[in-house]
Amino acid sequence: SRSLASSLLVDKGNHRHFMAKEIYEQPEVLSHTLAHYIDMASGTIRLPEAVPADLAALKRVTVSACGTAYLAGLVGKYWMEKYARLPVDIDVASEFRYREVPLDPGGLALFISQSGETADTLASLRYCAQNGQRILSIVNVQESSIARESDVVFPTLGGPEIGVASTKAFTCQLAVLACLAIAAGRQRGVLGEDDERKLVRSLIEVPRLVGQALKLEPQIEDLARDLSRARDVLYLGRGLNYPIALEGALKLKEISYIHAEGYAAGELKHGPIALVDENVPVIVVAPSDRLFDKTVSNMQEVAARGGRIILLTDAAGAEAAGDQPFATLVLPEMYQFVQPLLYAIPVQLIAYHTAVFMGTDVDQPRNLAKSVTVE
Ligand code: G6P
Repeated sequence: SRSLASSLLVDKGNHRHFMAKEIYEQPEVLSHTLAHYIDMASGTIRLPEAVPADLAALKRVTVSACGTAYLAGLVGKYWMEKYARLPVDIDVASEFRYREVPLDPGGLALFISQSGETADTLASLRYCAQNGQRILSIVNVQESSIARESDVVFPTLGGPEIGVASTKAFTCQLAVLACLAIAAGRQRGVLGEDDERKLVRSLIEVPRLVGQALKLEPQIEDLARDLSRARDVLYLGRGLNYPIALEGALKLKEISYIHAEGYAAGELKHGPIALVDENVPVIVVAPSDRLFDKTVSNMQEVAARGGRIILLTDAAGAEAAGDQPFATLVLPEMYQFVQPLLYAIPVQLIAYHTAVFMGTDVDQPRNLAKSVTVE
């Protein structure tokens, strides 16, 4: 990765690690990416190219990706199903490519990749192309194999990402998926003009809100010492924030080597609760919403077993959770639609600071590669 960085002529600026630099670049790169998909004057979506299938008539979208890009796709599924009533079938590319998935001719297949070179994602793309699908990709590296082999490429304008653990590429992928979901919602007649404007307005606010979320850093740095002593960490979330819980766990295990698992909060009783004791921190990603009460009862179950809860929520959620959490990180209030973009920030910082505290090689964690070009 040192050579990748030097060949791309990027440096760490004032940051200790590329990962920190890339986390802090998010307000800027999200602005660029959003500006590519939004007509700022009218506050509506303006896709740079037409999606290579008729969104209004589509029966389903097939999504495939790996790692963090897969988790972006999972958020995309929640968005497209809720805001466009468009069914989404998503799988990790290593499974998808061999699953012998039946595909209706003329369907839309979507691939998400920072590098555009991930072998399993590329193989899934080729399977879909051979099976009559139209190929749309969301890619950060424009001169990549996946970009070349797609019918249409929607770029993320994240700039070069050097840290092996993806951060800014992830939130930029989310930004593109959010715009795509709104466009699909409009074309399918699920969203009206006002709905579109409201959702777009909430997206335009994201870079500023990310800047605010970054201010949680000192508080997160304090928590890192505590987290660094854990052998296992659980992450819980529901709905749009379930993929963010998965991403939090992935980030932490990748760079701190602490065993971490993300779970849908409602699955707590179906297994992970067995692990909970006073040594297991449980990070709960839960903005206050219509399901917040259910998450509060999950927290009660954790607290009753001595588990230390770190709650990521907003002011209303902090109030409703009372004194159950060991620590609460309070994010600004925001429209539900954009929550995954914002809640991604503290989970990145938690992983980063825990790893820095433990002294691991944050930018080049052991055994991991930035781009997995072999199976
Ligand atoms: C590797 C990287 C991850 C990345 C995944 C998919 O595992 O370490 O950060 O999310 O590959 O990579 P892609 O380039 O396809 O997004």
